[in-house]
Amino acid sequence: MNIRKLAVAALAAAIMIGSPFESEARLKSNKSKKRPAIEKDMDSFITDLMSKMTVEEKIGQTNLLATGEIVTGEARSSNVGQAIRAGNVGGVFNLTGADRLRELQTIAVEESRLGIPMIFGLDVIHGYETSFTVPLGLACTWDIEGIGRSASVAAKEASADGICWTFSPMTDICRDARWGRIAEGCGEDPYLGSLISASMVRGYQGNLSSDTTIMACLKHFALYGASESGRDYNTVDMSRWRMFNEYFPPYKAAVDAGVGSVMASFNIVDGIPATGNKWLLTDVLRKRWKFDGFVVTDYGGIAEMTPHGMGNLQTVSALAMNAGVDMDMMSFGFLQTIGKALESGEVSMETLDRACRYVLEAKWKLGLFHDPYKYLDPKRAKSDILTPANIAESRRLSQESIVLLKNEGGLLPLKRKQKVALIGPMADDAINMGGCWWVGNHKRLPSTILEGIRRALGSEGEVAFAKGSHLYYDARLEENALAFGHGSRDPRSDAEMLAEAMRVAAGADVIVAALGESAEMTGEAASRSDITIPDAQRDLLDSLLTLGKPVVLLNLSGRPMAIAAESGKVAAVAQVWYGGIEIGYAVADVLFGDYNPSGRLAVSFPMNVGQLPISYNHFNTGRPHDDKNGFLKFQSCYLDVPNEPLYPFGYGLSYTTFDYSDISLSSNEMTPDGKITASVTVTNSGSREGCETVQLYIRDMAGSVVRPVKELKGFEKITLKPGESRRVDFTIDVEMLKFYNSSLEYVCEPGEFTVMIGKDSRDFHSAAFTLK
Ligand code: NOJ
Repeated sequence: MNIRKLAVAALAAAIMIGSPFESEARLKSNKSKKRPAIEKDMDSFITDLMSKMTVEEKIGQTNLLATGEIVTGEARSSNVGQAIRAGNVGGVFNLTGADRLRELQTIAVEESRLGIPMIFGLDVIHGYETSFTVPLGLACTWDIEGIGRSASVAAKEASADGICWTFSPMTDICRDARWGRIAEGCGEDPYLGSLISASMVRGYQGNLSSDTTIMACLKHFALYGASESGRDYNTVDMSRWRMFNEYFPPYKAAVDAGVGSVMASFNIVDGIPATGNKWLLTDVLRKRWKFDGFVVTDYGGIAEMTPHGMGNLQTVSALAMNAGVDMDMMSFGFLQTIGKALESGEVSMETLDRACRYVLEAKWKLGLFHDPYKYLDPKRAKSDILTPANIAESRRLSQESIVLLKNEGGLLPLKRKQKVALIGPMADDAINMGGCWWVGNHKRLPSTILEGIRRALGSEGEVAFAKGSHLYYDARLEENALAFGHGSRDPRSDAEMLAEAMRVAAGADVIVAALGESAEMTGEAASRSDITIPDAQRDLLDSLLTLGKPVVLLNLSGRPMAIAAESGKVAAVAQVWYGGIEIGYAVADVLFGDYNPSGRLAVSFPMNVGQLPISYNHFNTGRPHDDKNGFLKFQSCYLDVPNEPLYPFGYGLSYTTFDYSDISLSSNEMTPDGKITASVTVTNSGSREGCETVQLYIRDMAGSVVRPVKELKGFEKITLKPGESRRVDFTIDVEMLKFYNSSLEYVCEPGEFTVMIGKDSRDFHSAAFTLK
């Protein structure tokens, strides 16, 4: 039995056993339907409310329940309805629709003893009905405001369907593309990740006073993206110094931006599962960062501490609540054990009060005590979802997310008069284009690349299509995908499909090969040890290349893939992050030059899987190796592959070219309370208007602890017309030079620094200054 089934069985058991306060609840069932206006402030209102709550009702607030499908009209008689009525539920997730959720809210508000409203959550990860490209793709836009707007759109649409709480942003730094959840995050860099994290929180939440913004949940706290060997749910072990410098910043940025909730991660941190880790949840999150929202576990996170080896449900539930968890997602640990833990003294009343209070405060902040039906207006779904403005935003961000990796001989953009053969299993597969965590009710499918090209060409040009091969490399994976309703099985053999593709491609001027991963290959529980393009698709590409025609490879995926071989063989390569209702149109915009690509990698593309984990901001080691020298014995390098990735962090091409001047520094010396300016002049040396992301990196040459070879510290996106030049200034102050030392103090140390400004983490100009 898997954890989800276990949890559901536990729910049934909990309800069957019956809660001791159920009868009391029935006796005093809430008669009044109208809520009196609240005149108190949050603290006194909640203190007053809690003074009326039984222990069981307080525990009920700490219980978060995933509903299965509940048929409209049947909520009252369902197990979930009974549990809500009995005061056993603080919130519900995985159910959408203002009508259905209104029914549940009515039970909570009108039929439970104290009428406490519930919160309704969902994994709104990259948009709702108007989906956006997966978060890693959004990160590749380097468009911080735009990413924030995508969160606002998601909030507006999800709230129109009754949701007031999203389990996003996920800002787990990840440097190991084997981990399928890399698709859900912001890439490998703490600085870029921090900007994204804060922007998403602001986008989702606004100031929470409106009914079109929702509460965000920062996840997965902490270090989930550093799981060993990229295997999901696996062990994490790292020094606190590294946590603070490299992995914590995006989490902290979300907290600083006022995120309303935080989700504890499944993995261990310093030997203790995050869900039961007091140092993490209380000392760091509450005391050091002053987080004032509530902490929820991940799905079954408390129960999972038993197989982790931390004890039985009684023990681990107490461990979690004492560590700082306020809400239990689907372990039923709090519901079933905290009563007894209070009797035995394992958990104090004060601790339960803390957890209950934080949950109630979240409801207050969302305005639910003032109006429990604030987010439950069925009319809004018609007016606020899939609006032209939302769809246009998705198109813009999809365009910005596409990263042009190679463009030999200026093959791209394609000319409309060319005969295009579009080949590949990802070319016309709307379901797989949805990517992982594609939520909502799929009222409109994402556009496919074939649709995009057809629309872009109109009557001007020709496109012929063939699928060419199966998408999956593994029958079990296909079964799984089909079971989840992802796609349908093509009855033809790979050989038949290949023959058709070769016929179609033979008549074309240019071949566009749309290959890559299915939606099922990224996201949760989708780690891969081999991150190459699946076999049948690679064979397809090799066959197409025998035709001797120019080939554009569109690599569609939610993770960086090992595409060194393919990229070496074709003339042009673009990385297309899937997800996004407009993605097919956006791809066509790029292919035909209606949009000049501007995406920059937020994550390194490795040469091969053996390089993982990899990131640009590594340490130098005592035996640094320069790939330019080939293999050198007794230096830190591989025998068989360079240290450098195939495509580095920050990398991305345009249909125009940009030249950089040398860096000019306003001074070569800086005082701790001073600032200096580093400037470059960037010129568009090509023949098209284009957008360049000018990137600033800094290296601290010597410190009390080792420092990375470079760290992103700023960037600016500029659009230049052909021949146009612009000076870009970066102001450097000590905040940009600070780091956590071995005592975990945030300091800057005097000494030499190198400033690097350029196109990406590999191609830059340098200058030096001294901090006095
Ligand atoms: C498990 C995932 O790890 C988490 O990201 C998600 O928010 C929860 N399930 C709820 O669906």
